[in-house]
This record gives sequence, structure tokens and C-alpha cells, in this order.
Amino acid sequence: MPTTDQRKLRAQMTPLIPPGVTGHIDRVVTLAAALAERHAFDVATTERLLLAAQGHDLLRALEPADLLTRAADRGLEVDPVERAAPVLLHGPLAAEELCADFDLCDPWVVHAVRWHTSGHPDFDDAAWVFFLADKVEPWKVEQWPALQQVLDSAWESPAQAALRYLELNIERGESRGWHQHPMALSAGRALIEAGTRQLSDRLLKQFWGV
Ligand SMILES: [Fe+2]
Ligand SMILES: [Fe+2]
Repeated sequence: MPTTDQRKLRAQMTPLIPPGVTGHIDRVVTLAAALAERHAFDVATTERLLLAAQGHDLLRALEPADLLTRAADRGLEVDPVERAAPVLLHGPLAAEELCADFDLCDPWVVHAVRWHTSGHPDFDDAAWVFFLADKVEPWKVEQWPALQQVLDSAWESPAQAALRYLELNIERGESRGWHQHPMALSAGRALIEAGTRQLSDRLLKQFWGV
């Protein structure tokens, strides 16, 4: 169930963001809460996870030019992939602004929000659950039905589901000419090295480029 802290943050954020983004966030929080219960996370972990779910898209509706300006103002290092697709900056910038403007500075939450688009090699199961709730909330599965297998897997193994999502995203990126964020590849390599799945030639090629 959503927590008091998450509800308070929702009340603060709702006037600042478009209704469509609020709708997405609400679906992410609902799915994250259900997955947290399924994986029997403790109360503190669930509370942090739901705060990340609530806060992650604070800046999702900003225009690309605005994101680049804010990144420059905050002295953020901008990767070439982010410069080509500034939408990728909405996570790192939200992490900064949630701490600066909403006093939400818990390191786990800040890290999870910062890397919510790509994932991160340091993500634990709870961070992957938050990541997955963002990627496979009902509307997104409706738009991209291949995600159903990721959602199904998320109930059993967040790491397996996250690796499958990263794979699918690489395949989609290849077909559309998108560059992968280097952190997404690092995150996938870390999941593979942690024994999430046996290496196949296909996985090697996708995540190591060999
Ligand atoms: Fe996002
Ligand atoms: Fe999101």
C-alpha cells in the first residue's frame, strides 16, 4: 500500500506536473507496492521504494532544451547519448531537485531515481522492482505487448525480469537506430555476471558488443 510519505510527496508534486504524468506515476506506485508485497520487502525498504516511484518523473514533461539548460545550471556531466536524447536527463535532474526542493535526500532514493531510465550495476532487488514498475505499468504493456513477459517475470525474479527488459530494449533500439545508454549496458553486464542468466552468444554481443 502507498505510504504516508509517498502520499505527501504526491500532494506536493501533483500541481507541478501534467495529469498524464501523474496518471503514469500513480500506476507505477500501485504496481511497485504490489511487487514489494510479493517480494516481502520490509517496511523501510517499501517506503523508500514508493518514494522513488512517486518522485521519479518529476521532470518528465520538461522540453529537451530545458533539460539541457538545467543540467548545465547544476553542473551535471552530460553523456553524449544524453546530449543526443536529453529526455534521458530527467532522472538525474529529478534526483537533484527532489533533494534540493522536496528535502528527499535519502541516498537509496536519490540513486534509484537518478538511474531509473537505464538501471545501474549497484541496483538491489528493491531498486529493480521500482525500475520494473516504471517500465511495465499497465499502459506501457498495452503499448508494447512484449513487456508482458517482463511483468510476469517481475513477480518471480526482479533481476531476471530486469535483464529481459534491458535485452528487449536493446533489440528495440537496434531496430529504431537508438543508442543505448552506457549505464544500461553496465547494468545488464552486472546482472549477467551476478549469475542472473547463463551467458549466450546473443547476450555477449548485446551487452559487451563482441
Ligand atoms: Fe522517467
Ligand atoms: Fe516513469
